[in-house]
Amino acid sequence: MNEVYEKLKKCHEIVAKKITFKPELALILGSGLGDFCDTMDVKETLPYSEIEGFPKSTVAGHKGQFVFGYSDGVPIVAMQGRVHYYEGYPVQDVVLPTRLMRLMGAKTLFLTNAAGGINPAFHAGDFMLITDHICSLVPSPLIGANIDELGTRFPDMSEVYSRRLRTIIENSAAAEGVPLQRGVYIQTTGPNYETPAEIRAYGRLGADAVGMSTAIEAMAARHCGMEVCGISCISNLAAGISANPLSHKEVQETADRVAPLFRKLVARAISDICAGK
Ligand code: HPA
Repeated sequence: MNEVYEKLKKCHEIVAKKITFKPELALILGSGLGDFCDTMDVKETLPYSEIEGFPKSTVAGHKGQFVFGYSDGVPIVAMQGRVHYYEGYPVQDVVLPTRLMRLMGAKTLFLTNAAGGINPAFHAGDFMLITDHICSLVPSPLIGANIDELGTRFPDMSEVYSRRLRTIIENSAAAEGVPLQRGVYIQTTGPNYETPAEIRAYGRLGADAVGMSTAIEAMAARHCGMEVCGISCISNLAAGISANPLSHKEVQETADRVAPLFRKLVARAISDICAGK
């Protein structure tokens, strides 16, 4: 068997022994947004450290656990703390948690992140519905022998972020009175922030926001047949768009400041996505 798949299956065996909860939807929480779980009716939790072979998040402020429970009656699994490529893991390990949540039963992936705003119309604290992504700066998570059990060798990526879910989320935001920008997300490797010249280049390539996660997770999820959506919290204006130097502290502070609104938006969107299912 393929090594990447073997590791995934082993992780799933461990999860299946410890957890009985069956999620419909998987939610990946970005920087400063881990508090979402406080609003959930939590049934079970599983620290990543209890899953042998699972990559460990090394980012300060990331908790590192799966949280299983109900958000407004919808059975979900939330990742409190994600794994980033810049931590040094092979890209296949970075998407292992996404694939694992698929094996747990989740059919929908809801991605969130903190991102730098490139589009000059954006402000720090805005939310951006991800309409598409540019992932060409990072290796594809699908490199290596294809895992036929999960999906096809050459998957289509013409609609990574489901048009159906985007319409639902736009309506959820309007219903909650939360302004929502929309745009294209570009993933870099990180961990450094970008230079102003890089940001100008990414803007010309068509990116509206930049971050260090999300696109590879979205690709892995599409490969294994999940329906995907995502929202970025614009935690800062990207390098050169604002005159100020960037800091992780600023990113965290803005994400924390808008967290209550973000929680409201995501909770409503999840409820609307799963309504009637
Ligand atoms: N660049 C890259 N990643 C980020 C940024 C940024 O400006 N803000 C939050 N994550």
